[in-house]
Amino acid sequence: MRAKHWRRTKWTPIGVAALLAASAAVALPPLLLTPAAQAADPVVVLSHGFEDGTTQGWGGRSAETVATSTAAARTGSRSLLVSGRTASWQGPARSLLGSVEKGTRYTLSAWVRLAAGEPAAQARLSVERRTAGTPSYDQATGNVNVTATGWTQLTGSYTLAHDVDFLTAYVETVSGTSAIHIDDFTMSYVPATPIQTNIPAVKAVLAPYFPIGTAISPTTIIGQHAQLLNRHFSSVTPGNSLKWDATEPAAGSFRFTDADAAVNFAVANGLEIRGHTLIWHQQTPSWVFADAAGNPMTATAANKALLLSRIESHVSTVVGRYRGKIKYWDVANEVIDENQADGLRRSRWFEIAGLDFLRTAFRAARAADPAARLFINDYNTNVPAKRDKLFNLVSALRAEGVPIDGVGHQMHVNIDWPSVAETEAMITKFVPLGVDQQVTEMDISIYTNTGESFPTPPRDRLIKQGYRYRDLMGVFKRHADAISSVTLWGLADDDTWLDSFPVARKDAPLLFDTELQAKPAYWGIVDPSRIEGAASASPTASAAPTASASPTGNTSPTAGASPGPTNTGQAPPPCQVRYTVTGQWQGGFQGEVRVTALAPVNGWTLRWTFPNGQRLDQLWNGTATQTGAAVAVTNASWNRSIPANSTATVGFLASWAGTNGPAADITLNNAACQRLP
Ligand code: G3I
Repeated sequence: MRAKHWRRTKWTPIGVAALLAASAAVALPPLLLTPAAQAADPVVVLSHGFEDGTTQGWGGRSAETVATSTAAARTGSRSLLVSGRTASWQGPARSLLGSVEKGTRYTLSAWVRLAAGEPAAQARLSVERRTAGTPSYDQATGNVNVTATGWTQLTGSYTLAHDVDFLTAYVETVSGTSAIHIDDFTMSYVPATPIQTNIPAVKAVLAPYFPIGTAISPTTIIGQHAQLLNRHFSSVTPGNSLKWDATEPAAGSFRFTDADAAVNFAVANGLEIRGHTLIWHQQTPSWVFADAAGNPMTATAANKALLLSRIESHVSTVVGRYRGKIKYWDVANEVIDENQADGLRRSRWFEIAGLDFLRTAFRAARAADPAARLFINDYNTNVPAKRDKLFNLVSALRAEGVPIDGVGHQMHVNIDWPSVAETEAMITKFVPLGVDQQVTEMDISIYTNTGESFPTPPRDRLIKQGYRYRDLMGVFKRHADAISSVTLWGLADDDTWLDSFPVARKDAPLLFDTELQAKPAYWGIVDPSRIEGAASASPTASAAPTASASPTGNTSPTAGASPGPTNTGQAPPPCQVRYTVTGQWQGGFQGEVRVTALAPVNGWTLRWTFPNGQRLDQLWNGTATQTGAAVAVTNASWNRSIPANSTATVGFLASWAGTNGPAADITLNNAACQRLP
């Protein structure tokens, strides 16, 4: 149930329009058109301008003085003033319980001004939540400079992912105890667009090759994100909740709240799990590198022994807890520095323990779950110097018996870099080692340098990105025998680490947009012929044949063709068709029928016969029936019309036994098509 939402005075522009938009969104048919539906207008849940002279539910976080004030107002004649603060964390606070629904992304906004005469400070909008009395603190905004001479807006977003018994938004300062005015606080959300249910599942399209995964967070395993995730992905990697700072924030004090939720979700939904990550130079609490007296460790034998015992304990506990559930572990993350002669990053781990930190971690992981496959994971492995150093390290450690089963390639790349050839070399380099390989954190930034920043992603970048996904996934598909899974670093563009790295700007590196709708990047993987302008824009796709192309194939309809208008053999056939088996394995195969209409078609049925008893299991981009050997596919709503010289492609999964001969007698609207090789 959605929490009860209402509107207050001093906020007029949205009002009824928002309500109508919200109900319209609910009424949208589940089968969305392509391109994706427009986002609805925001619905305002809370709006506080303090014009009625009351504090409208606002108070302090402890003993501050809270009252409405006419000394300053951003709009109207009143604001809320909080004075008597004795700590920087104190400030105006309001409960959000009952106003917030789990899994919905809310936009929070508050205007802030310090009381007259107060020195400038930095402020932020935060949220405190408590579950069974245990508090957690989230920041909805970064730190923003505020003054006593003008109003500054603090605005950011917040998604509640946990069951809570206390939930409060508040304004605090980074330091100091200035008196604070706030005004025109609002909390709103944009009604979610339903996810598309009439497009192929990425996991089905890639099933012949490898599982396809995504990084998850507490907010992506609930609500519509969870629906999208389950529809398209077969594997997950918790993005942060298995890291050391999350699982063992203090020595021997383990915390598995978010990790358990992620693992339980994956198990319940039949998803493979990649565990990420046990040993990393980031997100490791400082206590790990503190000596027995609590001082930063120096490289002594005693400290090395202490550090290795901490690794042993941490790895055993975390891997042991998820024994039999987490199939792959990134035991070590980013240990290579290609600028060092020996190729090893000078991390605290290495400085104190040398290579023994790796030996201990891998052996402890193997002991804790002998069935788990253990990976060493790194970025830029497409760069020759880096992959060579990684190769040397993995060969040396495996030669001495360290249980490294696989190499993880992060693949944080962009629309221009790296080349297909470099990516291919990244995979082939490790084949002679006999290790498993996985792509572990793939995303494709729309930016090619730090100077660029787009408020919304330009269409041409998104199209280019679609082809990049096609081409790079093509590399992985070609090497599927060496790659046991491919994982993307996120589900949709509404939540990506690239929004704040390497600079703060909106990026769009994933398959689904901020409204969870399929992008050209999705089609690049699923069906590149559906990337906008595919016939002409693709750098490598062959151009669509023209109407004047001379037919060279067999144009006669066969005896078994269905009745109806047929090609006489005098005029050129009205269509051309290519049947391709895109992947085949014992008992199953994936195929594609690509038809080019040489004159416009509005509504179509594509028919063929399977010569060897093949049976369709699943088909996308149309609706299929199979009677004996005869298959009939009718168009989907979005590909009903095929303009002249344009193509429609249907893809499918099917089973076979003995022989898997090509489909025969392919017709479009009962007319035989020219068969292309
Ligand atoms: O959870 C807190 C939240 O309570 C607080 O309000 C908020 C304020 O900024 O921070 C939240 O924590 C952030 C966390 O992500 C969860 O969103 C941390 O500040 C932020 O540093 C952390 O970033 C993570 C990053 O690793 C840390 O370096 C990214 O989410 C995560 O995607 C990223 O993943 C790494 C891989 O592990 C290794 N390879 C590179 C990849 C990208 O950096």
